[in-house]
Amino acid sequence: MSEFVSKNLAINEKGHLTIAGLDTVELAKEYGTPLYVMDEDLIREHCRSFRQSMEQYYDGAGLVCYASKAFSCKAMYRIAKEEGIGIDVVSAGELYTAACVDFPMDKVCYHGNNKTEFELRMAIEHKVGRIIVDNIYELELLNKLAAEEGVKARIMYRIKPGVDAHTHDFVKTGQIDSKFGFALETGEAFEAIKKALSLENIEFVGVHCHIGSQIFDIAPFVEAANVMMGLIEQVKVELGHEITELNLGGGFGIKYTESDTPVPYADYMDKVSETVKALCKERGLKLPFILIEPGRSIVAPAGITLYTVGGIKEIPNIRTYVSVDGGLGDNPRYALYKSEYDFVVANKADKAKDSVVTVAGRCCESGDLLGEGVKLQTTEVGDTLAVLATGAYNYSMSSNYNRVPKPPVLMICNGEVKVAVKRETLEDIVRNDM
Ligand code: LLP
Repeated sequence: MSEFVSKNLAINEKGHLTIAGLDTVELAKEYGTPLYVMDEDLIREHCRSFRQSMEQYYDGAGLVCYASKAFSCKAMYRIAKEEGIGIDVVSAGELYTAACVDFPMDKVCYHGNNKTEFELRMAIEHKVGRIIVDNIYELELLNKLAAEEGVKARIMYRIKPGVDAHTHDFVKTGQIDSKFGFALETGEAFEAIKKALSLENIEFVGVHCHIGSQIFDIAPFVEAANVMMGLIEQVKVELGHEITELNLGGGFGIKYTESDTPVPYADYMDKVSETVKALCKERGLKLPFILIEPGRSIVAPAGITLYTVGGIKEIPNIRTYVSVDGGLGDNPRYALYKSEYDFVVANKADKAKDSVVTVAGRCCESGDLLGEGVKLQTTEVGDTLAVLATGAYNYSMSSNYNRVPKPPVLMICNGEVKVAVKRETLEDIVRNDM
């Protein structure tokens, strides 16, 4: 068992940190820093676990759609395609990238609370499997655009189920105040369904909910399934229409630090399937086709980021800043959410973590930190610093703030290194400047 938060990390005979068996210090030397490194084998293993749990507990009557906002590039869409899973996209950019690798469009869910007309047209033209409609304005626009193309748009509705799992103790109120979707409690969702069923160029196939992210509890997922099945029943009883698909979103938590305790995916699928099957039996409903949208849990544990340590500033009785050659440009999650990570000095991975430091980025911004109160091996200029479990919402949330080029992404597959995304150059930085 790895002593690290992700099982693909270990220490070699030189005392260096390894990922998927490769020496991270060597990778940093060869490809430069900052550097994102992703373990493709682990990503594929996660895709398979989700698929298998859908097979095992729900007889395969469903589709796992990777939420590609977590990490999106051509290589990742190729992996999803080869593993036979679908994807969730939220922009023309994500859809375009998926189209570049001939992603099967019937397995695409198109999300967003304010899709543009251009994006809706693009979704129709690409014949995406499901457009997840967020509001009535979008419904009417989509109906009009589909009519112009002479097609029916296949849609699901984004519903606010009133289950808020953003906290550890989930609550069942307070979700009406969200920019996403139709509210259930107020009857808004039910009225909107009536409307969708009346429109000529809309094929209404199902309902969707997403209750939050980095969730460690199965109970809120089960509760959300419960509430959504209630809506499906109401639509059948009152409108005589049988909804055939239920999309339960993503949000499965991962281990960033020792204190995180994720639930195995299989347990989640087991409990949710049991709930849906029991409710269908009890209320005489047909079993819906189930979709789930894991993002973070597929890619986060597969990735690390490597930096080179520069200036170290000891402020007596206050703190020690260890500065690295990246920061909020490649990982804005500490600046945005105070997200915690595990850090390792990759070239001293076998040494004890005997210091506590603040890891600072290189941007002209005091808030550009990667962590505070970070336990670390004694650090010197030139060390390679690894931040663990950065595979999700790091590269995909990166920016060029301060005109710093974005790092490359390496993918390790069967011990081979492939460059999935090239390092940006200074020329890239001025590419669109006139
Ligand atoms: N489905 C929908 C409709 C979503 O909005 C999301 C995430 C997911 C699926 C995937 O959730 P996951 O399995 O990755 O938790 N930037 C934040 C996370 C934002 C998540 C937004 N929606 C972070 O860095 O933690």
